[in-house]
Amino acid sequence: MKDDGNESATLATLANKRILLGMTGGIAAYKCAELTRLLSKAGADVRVVMTPAATEFITPLTMQALSGHRVHLDLLDVDAEAGMGHIELARWPDLIVVAPASADFLARMVSGQAGDLLTTLLLASQAPVMLAPAMNQAMWLHQATQDNLSKLRDRGCHIAGPAEGSQACGDTGPGRMLEPAEIAAACASLFVAGMLSGLRLTITAGPTREAIDPVRFISNHSSGKMGYALAAEAVQAGARVTLISGPVNLPVPDRVHCINVTTAQEMLDACLSSVDDSDVFVGVAAVADYRVSDTRDHKIKKTADTLQLTLVRNPDIIGTLAARKQRPLMVGFAAETQHIEQYGRDKLLRKNLDLLFANDATATFNSDDICATALWGDAGSQKLGPANKNLVARQMLTLIAARIRASQPDA
Ligand code: C5P
Repeated sequence: MKDDGNESATLATLANKRILLGMTGGIAAYKCAELTRLLSKAGADVRVVMTPAATEFITPLTMQALSGHRVHLDLLDVDAEAGMGHIELARWPDLIVVAPASADFLARMVSGQAGDLLTTLLLASQAPVMLAPAMNQAMWLHQATQDNLSKLRDRGCHIAGPAEGSQACGDTGPGRMLEPAEIAAACASLFVAGMLSGLRLTITAGPTREAIDPVRFISNHSSGKMGYALAAEAVQAGARVTLISGPVNLPVPDRVHCINVTTAQEMLDACLSSVDDSDVFVGVAAVADYRVSDTRDHKIKKTADTLQLTLVRNPDIIGTLAARKQRPLMVGFAAETQHIEQYGRDKLLRKNLDLLFANDATATFNSDDICATALWGDAGSQKLGPANKNLVARQMLTLIAARIRASQPDA
């Protein structure tokens, strides 16, 4: 794992999480810019809802730029309802964070009001709620606020803060909103860590297609099922996944960032732009080894009895990436039809990989099941399956996690 310091380690469980940040009116709203940055950097998908009072303190444009998504402002917004409507938005998050949570907002939440978008979302959502109160110390200490807090706690809301100290109004006491890093850490602590939490994986999948003319191409039988199963399982294990996929008939797994490509060269280009941000590269794609040297601009007519095509070698994607000085953990596949382990071990060495899964091509392509042998180091090996590709994917990811641990200096 690339080391971004302790910050990324403590926030690792936020990867792939959907967080709805609700902002109410208070001077601490400016801290939400940094909170959004931290949550996004940890891999969370952040959507922001602002009450009208919040927009008096920080602009929706700032929050839009930092979250990368349009900010939700109104309950009865025709355009917003045509996109992600408020009930859809209520079903979307894994966590709702309200920061700053003003005294007025807490009171409205306690009484179950739904007069604006944020209170409506909180009534309609089943997601856990984290509240980061911020207000003047006298307002915080008031019995009404304390009663509200205790009711919200009883309903299962998590309360982060407030801190004590000097306040924007000149008072000193409890009521300062926690710092963004503390709120982010409180959010991260609500999620369970997976074996790949905080890691970024790039996975190639499916075949590539090399055009002969505008209607014909060279390709292979790869279905993409193994790569897609790995992508889905890696997300479940806490990883952030970029899937670089050739043409397949499979839905993109939830929370996976998918880049669609057609040719080997396009796949290499996409891999080169993704690999520097990756901790692990997994080459599952059955990349066409050759492409047609002179792809025709027009359909070839069947006038001649024979047709000759000249093929040229495609770049070896995983070999190219593994040869780079700065490289992630490199994991390859070898689909063979004979001498499976021996050819697999040759490939592990020749392509300079850290781990390789060798399997029988005739039994694997387009099948829902797989039987493979994991090979690493000088003599490491383990049989996997035969079993469903999702189950074997989990075993593969366990081995990948073990190789990462082994590659870390203090392991
Ligand atoms: O050489 P072979 O195709 O058998 O090697 C298989 C491994 O190499 C797989 O991990 C596959 O994704 C990768 N590969 C590649 N670029 C190629 C050919 C294969 O990345 N041109």
